Amino acid sequence: MQNLAIKFIRCAVLYAIVGMTLGIFMAASNDHVQAPTHTHINLLGWVSMAIFGLVYRAFPTLAVGTLPKVHFWLMNVGVIGMIAGLFLMFAGHMEFVPLTAVASLFVLAGMLLFAIIVYRGRAE
Ligand code: HEM
Ligand code: HEM
Repeated sequence: MQNLAIKFIRCAVLYAIVGMTLGIFMAASNDHVQAPTHTHINLLGWVSMAIFGLVYRAFPTLAVGTLPKVHFWLMNVGVIGMIAGLFLMFAGHMEFVPLTAVASLFVLAGMLLFAIIVYRGRAE
């Protein structure tokens, strides 16, 4: 599914805009308490999602079937959950630790699925 590559890249760009906006707010306010949130929006949301998109573009056969679609949703649900959880935690709401923890397991599950996708079959 060629479409999947551009879907990942479109999501990545949105995460970049959110992450950079938060970075500018942190710099302008000189309040860096949300730095870990900013880190993970940019590195999980922008960098990792863009890499997934580029890998699916470079090896289109990897994007065939249901598993890559499941990968897309696991990553996005996980990253959005982690971003929301981290933001709320670093805003002082420690009751959101479980949300962040569960979301990070979605992210890990997505990466394990990506490992299966990358290792199975032939990449052409
Ligand atoms: C408009 C763009 C950006 C602005 C204004 C910005 C601003 C900031 C600020 C103010 C900090 C806190 C520094 C500190 O507390 O020591 C920070 C940390 C960080 N930023 Fe950005 N940032 C931007 C884009 C990015 C991007 C695109 C990435 C990654 C692809 C990134 C990755 C990081 C990381 C990893 C840290 C944590 C560094 C550490 O903990 O030592 N930032 N950024
Ligand atoms: C399941 C996914 C992940 C979890 C649960 C996780 C968790 C954490 C935790 C607990 C910290 C320490 C934060 C602190 O000291 O306040 C951290 C820091 C960091 N993580 Fe992650 N991380 C994940 C994925 C990633 C990925 C994929 C990247 C890069 C592509 C990344 C880049 C960083 C960086 C650069 C820092 C240090 C900068 C900072 O403290 O803001 N993380 N992460």
